Amino acid sequence: MNRYIDQLMSRMTLEEKLGQLNLPVTGNIVTGAARESDVAEDIRQGRVGGLFNLKGAGAIREVQRIAVEESRLGIPLLFGMDVIHGYETVFPIPLALSCSWDMEAIERSAQIAAAEATADGICWTFSPMVDVCHDGRWGRISEGSGEDPYLGSRIAEAMVHGYQGADLSDAATMMACVKHFALYGAVEAGREYNNVYPDSYHMFNEYMQPYKAAIDAGAGSVMAAFNTVQGIPATGNRWLLTDLLREQWGFNGFVVSDYCGLEQLCDHGVCASKQEAAIQCLEAGLDMDMVSAGLLSLAEAVRNGQCKKKYVDQACRRMLEAKYKLGLFDDPYRYCDTTRRSQVMRCPEYRAEARRIAAESMVLLKNDNQLLPLRKQGTIALIGPLANTRPNMSGTWAVAAVPEHYKTLREGLQDALEGSNAKLLYAKGSNLMYDAQAEAIATMFGREMRDNRSDAAMRDEAMRIARQADVIIAAMGESSEMSGECSSRVDIEMPDAQHDLLVELTKLGKPIVLVHFAGRPTVLNWETEHVPAILEAWFGGSETADAVADILFGDVNPSGHLTVQLPRHVGQYPFSYRQMRTSRLNPQGDFAKFTTCYADISSKPLYPFGYGLSYTTFEYSPMTLSSDQLPMANGQSVTASVTVTNTGDRRGTEVVQLYIGDRVAKGVRPYKELRGFERVTLESGESKEVTFTIDADLLGYYAPITDVCANAVPQWTLEPGEVEIHIGPNASETDMRLLTVQ
Ligand code: NOJ
Repeated sequence: MNRYIDQLMSRMTLEEKLGQLNLPVTGNIVTGAARESDVAEDIRQGRVGGLFNLKGAGAIREVQRIAVEESRLGIPLLFGMDVIHGYETVFPIPLALSCSWDMEAIERSAQIAAAEATADGICWTFSPMVDVCHDGRWGRISEGSGEDPYLGSRIAEAMVHGYQGADLSDAATMMACVKHFALYGAVEAGREYNNVYPDSYHMFNEYMQPYKAAIDAGAGSVMAAFNTVQGIPATGNRWLLTDLLREQWGFNGFVVSDYCGLEQLCDHGVCASKQEAAIQCLEAGLDMDMVSAGLLSLAEAVRNGQCKKKYVDQACRRMLEAKYKLGLFDDPYRYCDTTRRSQVMRCPEYRAEARRIAAESMVLLKNDNQLLPLRKQGTIALIGPLANTRPNMSGTWAVAAVPEHYKTLREGLQDALEGSNAKLLYAKGSNLMYDAQAEAIATMFGREMRDNRSDAAMRDEAMRIARQADVIIAAMGESSEMSGECSSRVDIEMPDAQHDLLVELTKLGKPIVLVHFAGRPTVLNWETEHVPAILEAWFGGSETADAVADILFGDVNPSGHLTVQLPRHVGQYPFSYRQMRTSRLNPQGDFAKFTTCYADISSKPLYPFGYGLSYTTFEYSPMTLSSDQLPMANGQSVTASVTVTNTGDRRGTEVVQLYIGDRVAKGVRPYKELRGFERVTLESGESKEVTFTIDADLLGYYAPITDVCANAVPQWTLEPGEVEIHIGPNASETDMRLLTVQ
């Protein structure tokens, strides 16, 4: 590779090298301002390194042909896309996917996404998004794996392995891009594109681990975040992109900016011109410039010495290396095989996997008197604005989705009931919300579902239908565009029109199941108090409808567990189960003067991190530790075990969780932090011992830097002392033993 690239670079002009750093957007999908340019002519002139959001092996082949046959050096282009949770076979939104706690399933979802996307010409995806988030107001919490850095790290690895496989040049794998580096999930007040403030201690202990895990797993590229890190925009932050990423972590791929992230250095007020921004970003370690076309115009600055040529060479080399690793120099049309599409796209095997994984991601929050699963008999009323909408099922960031091929929930339930004598009735019952303008914002990009009937007429129809039913299924919550990019919200309760409808339905006194759709943690106080069964369905992708039916009728036993705790009030944010030890803790969470609490609400979550019910029940034996002492010397470990028994009457899967709580350390540690988990499937009556091996590495943390003047990075450390070892079915209900680290 090095020889090949040396030779190629020796033939390149400065302008051609800068051209490799340029990533314009094409196609109809833009997530910022679109720009007019003659892309084909730019490609001929060697002014383009890659394109994104162009779809179709045929179309991509044609554009690649221009690069290969009509540009002077014939360097192939990279073709990228936001393949976030599947391609045409759409998987659950990442937040939902994380609730499966199933690393094999997550890896498989990425593998299938790669198989489909590469059959459509794409060789580079802007995923995984690994931003840890503690704030449900942020719309993009839907795109990440929740609030926990340990679980987020395991998922980041699984995604990278799934996309890239064992061989990046395989025509069915694509390059991953870890984003948004770094800390984007910490945006202040949950407001999109806002600033972030974690100090180095919290940065490393709460946010950085998943990025590092993805890089250690071999991710080929990294996307710089829009936000600042320690006061400097990430895109132009040399400490972040070079000192930490490359020198400390050993990353050897390339860094791309986010959409116009380079020129936004001017908006941040750290540069006076785009050229100044381009120089700062290049020298900081940015290799490819998405949409700004700022690096492209640096030739003059290099010639007159304002910008060092070595940085251009370095970035160009990294771009060529990526193309080499993808096998594009061997065969520029490697991902343009137009015959593959018909074999893989939405093939029955992939859709079956997506259906299974969607069901695994849904979380049963409540199930009084075993209302669920429902029997396929009698009259079932399906009511709510999300019951019969096709485009809302796939979720927020499914760029390649083809909703006409997916079922509505109504169709999924109807199909599931075929052959039974149950009758399914349907009424929409309400709009998404009363305010039409607010609904328009919540249903952009083809998700419109507004009904022109009056609110009263819709409700009357729903009540008439509901009165005829033995059981009501209420399909309510958020539309898919209520989360995702630029969808921050301060009201995360059930939208008004749907809440009022649900209140009326509960007055009928019939059993009600709420199938709740959401792309974020929401506040479900009223629902928890008044509705006997609640299934958090999130957005399950193309197979949502069948997956919900599988759970409601008991063909699948729910096993999803929350990866964000659900709050009681939006005012609790930022909010995480990883509460740091603090003075004046009030463990009960209620008001007590001069303790850490709220005067008007419990400070506890409504549903804790890790929580999820099943149609069966699991019992945990007390935990045993193989020893209550752990020597710190290398290689020593102890085991923590519990026996889990399925005490119910059907097969089920439990997620057994291991938490630690370091009682005394130099840096303040959380009371509980996840450090292990295992999914166990048990037949009715079956028991299994689950054992976690605990060594010094597992108990460590990034110790604080005591000399603030030292230009140092926190290091993974373990200090002697007492550590609580917790095992349980969620973060709130654990059994604890003390371990002394010596
Ligand atoms: C902006 C988003 O922040 C990023 O996640 C995405 O990959 C790019 N737009 C490209 O669409």
